[in-house]
Amino acid sequence: MSKRRRKPKSTAASDVNGEESVVLRETAPLQLRYYGDPVLRKRAELVTEITDVERQLAVHMLETLYATGNGIGLAATQVGILKRLIIVDIGEEDDEAYEPLVLFNPELMSVDGEIVVEEGCLSIPDVTAEVKRPERIVVEGIDVQNESVRIEADGLLARVLQHEIDHLNGVLFIDRIGGLKRQLLKDDLLKIQQAERPA
Ligand code: NI
Repeated sequence: MSKRRRKPKSTAASDVNGEESVVLRETAPLQLRYYGDPVLRKRAELVTEITDVERQLAVHMLETLYATGNGIGLAATQVGILKRLIIVDIGEEDDEAYEPLVLFNPELMSVDGEIVVEEGCLSIPDVTAEVKRPERIVVEGIDVQNESVRIEADGLLARVLQHEIDHLNGVLFIDRIGGLKRQLLKDDLLKIQQAERPA
């Protein structure tokens, strides 16, 4: 998911591994996939074992997120990898204690309430729309240390989690708005689909 403004932040492997690794730090951002790319419509596979490969992928995804400057969440699907892995960082810029969230096999366990919030997506640049979703949610998954986690969320965190879990099921936020509103975005979506990008 994307927000209008966000100060870029540096990533080190220590963010998810607890220990710095030179190898992991020297990586370029991954190639983001954009609206129109068929991979965004595929269902991602469960991660059966969390190895260094998956942990490294999470680090690369965080770097990719921070490189965007306005991202607050990313699903592996958005970098063309069909594994059920999402990362979220809605941390306040001045909150040093904040840790990004890395979640494997996230699953929406329960929902409550309803709220309309404006959403954007790194895979659908410069398009935003108001989307109605549950206000409070419970999500379960596995963290980078292979521990089960249960997250009770509301506000922005609840919103980003639902948006990213949708990506793992091939669903985009524009699928969750009315047909009339989507019609208004048609030209913008077509532009994204037809944009030429470096391979
Ligand atoms: Ni998105």
